[in-house]
Formats: sequence, C-alpha cells, structure tokens
Amino acid sequence: MRIALIGFGGVGRAFVKLLHDKREFLAAQGLYINLNYVINSSGGVYNPSGIDCKDLLNFTEKGQRLCEYPGGGNRDINLQRLISNKDVDVLVEVTPTNKETGEPGLTHIVKALENKIHVVTANKGPILLAYRKLNNLAVRNNVQLCAGCTTGGALPSINAGIFDLAGSSILSIEGILNGTTNFILEEMEKNSIAYSDALKKAQQMGIAETDPALDVEGWDTAVKLLILTNILMVQDKTLDDIQVEGITGVKPEYIAEAKKEDKALKLIGKAARTKEGVELKVSLEKIDRTHPLYGVNGTNKAVRYVSDTLGDLTVMGGASGTTPAAASLLRDILNLHRGYRFSV
Ligand SMILES: NC(=O)c1ccc[n+]([C@@H]2O[C@H](COP(=O)([O-])OP(=O)(O)OC[C@H]3O[C@@H](n4cnc5c(N)ncnc54)[C@H](OP(=O)(O)O)[C@@H]3O)[C@@H](O)[C@H]2O)c1
Repeated sequence: MRIALIGFGGVGRAFVKLLHDKREFLAAQGLYINLNYVINSSGGVYNPSGIDCKDLLNFTEKGQRLCEYPGGGNRDINLQRLISNKDVDVLVEVTPTNKETGEPGLTHIVKALENKIHVVTANKGPILLAYRKLNNLAVRNNVQLCAGCTTGGALPSINAGIFDLAGSSILSIEGILNGTTNFILEEMEKNSIAYSDALKKAQQMGIAETDPALDVEGWDTAVKLLILTNILMVQDKTLDDIQVEGITGVKPEYIAEAKKEDKALKLIGKAARTKEGVELKVSLEKIDRTHPLYGVNGTNKAVRYVSDTLGDLTVMGGASGTTPAAASLLRDILNLHRGYRFSV
C-alpha cells in the first residue's frame, strides 16, 4: 500500500514512528506500507521506493526542515505533485483543524477522493462541515473516506456505529466526549474545590489548554456530537442546531447536591430522534449510578448508542494523545486493507 502523509506535526510524526515500529506486525498481516510522501506547509519529501521512516524522524528531530531531507526533500513537493504522479493509494490527512472553513484539509480531501485516492483523516474540520458531500464523492470514485480518529481518537465511536451497529437504526447518541471537562468536574467533586481551582490543576497537569474555552464552554463536545450525528443518524446538522452549555458556571453546591442524591454531574452531548426530527444538545446532567456513563472517570470518554434492533451499546475508554491518535489512523488503514467499506 502506497501512502502519502500530509501534516507532519504531533500526530503526523507519531504516525511515521508507528509505521516504523509496527512494520513487522503489519507485514505479518500482509500489509506492506510504502510511505511515498511526507508533506507540510513548506514542501516535503518524496521517495517512490519508500521513505526511511526512522531516518526521517532522526533528521527532523534535530530541527531540520522536511524539504532539506537528503532522501528526497524538496520545496516543490506538495499535493498537486502527488496527484500528478499518480503513485499513491491512501492519503493520510493530519493538517490543523479549522471549524469555520475546513481548510486546508477540505481541499486536500476533495482532491484526493476525486483522484481515486482513499483518505484516512484525524482532521475534524472537513468532516464536521462536509461529511455527506465527501462521503458521496468517495462512493462515486469507488474509494473510502475513513474518519474514525475525528471523534475521540482511540475511542471507537464512529466506526463502532458504522460497523457494529450496521443494519440497525440509531435512536439516540449520548456521550461524554471531552476528557478535560470530565476531569475538572471530577476534581471538583473529589476535592470539594471551586471550578477555577480545578481548571488550574488541569492546566498544570497539561490536561487543559492555556486557553481552555473550546473545551469548557462545551464546543468541543458539540463538534464531536455533530460529527457522530451527521454520520450515524444520516443528518445534515450544523453547530447552529445545537443548544450548548459548558461547565464554566458550575458551582461546588451543584456538585454537592448531585452527590447527596447519589448522582454525578457530567457534561453530556446528546442527539435523540423525536417526532419533530433529531434534537441535539450539550448540557450538564445529573446522572445516577445505573446510567452507563456514570462510571466514566477522569479524562476518559464514552459514547452510548441506543438502536432499534441491536439495543443499548456503550463504548468507553481509549487512550489520549498523539500516539493513540496515530494508532487510530493506522487502525483505519489496516481495516481498509482488510476490505472494510467505510463509505456507503
Ligand atoms: N493532537 C492530538 O492528540 C489529536 C487527536 C485527534 C485528532 N487530532 C487532529 O489531527 C490533526 C493534526 O494534529 P497535530 O496535533 O498533529 O497538529 P500540528 O502539530 O499543528 O501539525 C499540523 C501539521 O500540518 C501541517 N500543515 C499546516 N498547513 C498545511 C498545508 N496547507 N499543507 C500541508 N501541511 C500543512 C503543519 O506544517 P507546518 O509545520 O509546516 O505549518 C504541521 O506539520 C488536527 O486536525 C487535529 O485536530 C489531533
């Protein structure tokens, strides 16, 4: 399988390392990967016989630029070049997420699919804004669009819905989809501390960003819920269709009250089919011990599906970080190699 990687930041580098570390494991499954291209915003590396992953990582770790790599580095290596050369089977797209325009990933994905190249991506922007269009493009070109990493990374959320709930109709999706907010709420409960102190602790531990707005105001949960809903409940919703509440206004009294009732306060993203259509919201919920999401602790994430014929299914856990995200991309690639069809 000939692979091109576009985006060589945290996830891209971890992906190249995994290709090196797992090469024997993959070969034992009959998957021989040739990494032909690695591209970032100022050029890239091209080697039609396969880039030496370890050597490339060693070279760039010293602060040297991709385009200066002696084994095929050049400023002129870009997506257009890759498309003209016609020597790639799969594009791995891991450029930064832009939730307003989807770019540059959206253009990369469209061009790849139009040119009959499978796409595996971790980039939420294009999936959030244009999944249906991209999926249809993949189907028309007889290739696959694999987006398993875009919601929860290692947590098999999208793919569990596509493959393991195949043939059933999903009636509701409910999830704890943001590890940072879940951690903060739990810290407040465990240590009876204020929101601002729990946030500070999360920031000191590297769990929350310096600017935590996207997480704590509920938008990260909303984006992930929207991706799941549009893919698995076949909708075309936008962020404007979601009522979004965050955790910034949570007072220790609310947590204590929930605890007194033997409940836990969690930030839940929920999509449910009603007579009026699918309704979506992100809100703080008091859930009791019998609820499948009650035991989702710390930075863990989980998603619960209720379906018409396969019942109630909850997927919980999965590691966080760049290596698990890269491993989730590799999982999609291996399943692609095994003949799974992600785009229908
Ligand atoms: N980090 C995680 O744990 C995680 C988990 C799940 C999903 N994701 C998603 O995975 C994607 C990558 O994340 P990351 O943490 O690896 O990001 P990152 O460290 O910011 O790396 C982004 C890479 O994309 C390159 N890039 C930017 N614009 C480009 C363009 N126009 N053409 C080609 N390359 C371009 C950058 O190159 P330059 O350096 O040359 O600008 C850089 O190599 C994001 O969409 C993110 O949301 C990340």
